[in-house]
Amino acid sequence: MDSQADINQKPILVVDDDYSIRALIVDALNDAGYGETRDVDNGLDAIALLREASYDLVISDLKMPGMSGLELLSRIKEIDPSTSVIIMTGFPSVDLSVSAMKDGAFDFITKPFKIDDLIYKVNIHLRGKKLLSEDELNIQIEHTRLHEKSRELSTIGYIYESVEKTQGDNKQIFREIVDLALRVANAESAVMVLYDEDKGLFHLKIEQHEKTYKLASGDQLIAALNSLLEDVVSTRRGVIQSGNSRTVFRSLLCVPLMIREKVFGLLILMNKRSEGTFTLRELNYIENLTARASLNIENQLLYESLFLSIMDTLKSLVHSIHVRDHYTERHSHNVTRIALKIADSMGLTAHEIETLRIASILHDIGKIAIPDSVLLKPDKLSTQEYDIIKTHSSVGESILKSIALFETERKIIRHHHERWDGRGYPNGLSKEGIPLLSRILSVADTFDAMTSDRPYRKGLTRSVAFQELLKNKESQFDARIVDAFIAMQNI
Ligand SMILES: [Fe+2]
Repeated sequence: MDSQADINQKPILVVDDDYSIRALIVDALNDAGYGETRDVDNGLDAIALLREASYDLVISDLKMPGMSGLELLSRIKEIDPSTSVIIMTGFPSVDLSVSAMKDGAFDFITKPFKIDDLIYKVNIHLRGKKLLSEDELNIQIEHTRLHEKSRELSTIGYIYESVEKTQGDNKQIFREIVDLALRVANAESAVMVLYDEDKGLFHLKIEQHEKTYKLASGDQLIAALNSLLEDVVSTRRGVIQSGNSRTVFRSLLCVPLMIREKVFGLLILMNKRSEGTFTLRELNYIENLTARASLNIENQLLYESLFLSIMDTLKSLVHSIHVRDHYTERHSHNVTRIALKIADSMGLTAHEIETLRIASILHDIGKIAIPDSVLLKPDKLSTQEYDIIKTHSSVGESILKSIALFETERKIIRHHHERWDGRGYPNGLSKEGIPLLSRILSVADTFDAMTSDRPYRKGLTRSVAFQELLKNKESQFDARIVDAFIAMQNI
């Protein structure tokens, strides 16, 4: 490597409120042979230094008490626009990456970073400057090339980071991808369609429009663009097209969404918000984005299909109990319905409600291990038989133990017969020590058991069952849940 010292003429300034990070960077710059470096722990001191002398490069943290890295950046651009800036951030955001791309005036590095990656970026920036001062003709070309390369690296890096952070179900992932694409390409409209290979049809998945009016609805667009979309599917390559008076768009960019070389959908962007058409660079960004996103979608699809097939197996286990005991299946159905209503009225999150739904469906799955002589006994159970019945909650948990997906659900199932006063089973947990969802399941389970007819007794009426719940508030049940349940009334 060239000696770095002759590359930078002016010092480098490092700004970070964390001393250890500043020291790490300064050491690395020294080791790499860069000249003078200064470091300060806040934006105001940095500005004072920048007013006194000129710096080639400022490496600044984004989040600092007082002045943020972005505020500092805009001040630096006022003081000396030729100063390069690298912003270090633990929280990359789409906004940041989009402004980086548009502005191109600064670069990013995401924490935690490898110090070599930072030195690489420093090198790119300072090399650009060195060329700028050496050769009038070459510099512009070389500088622009380096600058654009680094800008590109940083934008693509940010696309990866942003896609990486998209979580949730496919719909949410799709929505975030569309949103990201819209901003990265500065487009007016973005439409995602899924491709049904068997029928050769496109189905609108998501459409998003920046303008208050739409060019056409997503479905109309699919019809108008059908042959172009078919081309992209068959070539599996992204395209840019300019419109004319007969087309619904002025400019269009379309890329395939693929899993293992198979096209499962398309992302279509229409019309730049500014003048002009989409560029090859934007096509490249969007291709990078969709390639990365496809990986996420593939994982999600795999997860969902695995989840569904496991769920099917478990439901068939529940069904096999039902074949022996007709009560169980209807019971798990009712318990699920009641538990979800309670959870909803208590304002639980969608995630908690989904967990509760699975736990409710499967809560008595452990009964599969209970012999017919006990499970189907028409008379009252002996203590010994009751003890056998009581094993079903821990057996249920162990059935789900081998399935990592049901980590939370199995705990809920294990504890659905615990009591508020600690006299339940299998662990004798009490009060808030019992998982909240188990406490909800317990109220729903008991209510349905009380109101159902069994071979050895007739079910209680709903109002008598409500009285029973109220009577056992604070002993068997969490009073808050009983109250929420009774307040609903319309179950
Ligand atoms: Fe149970």
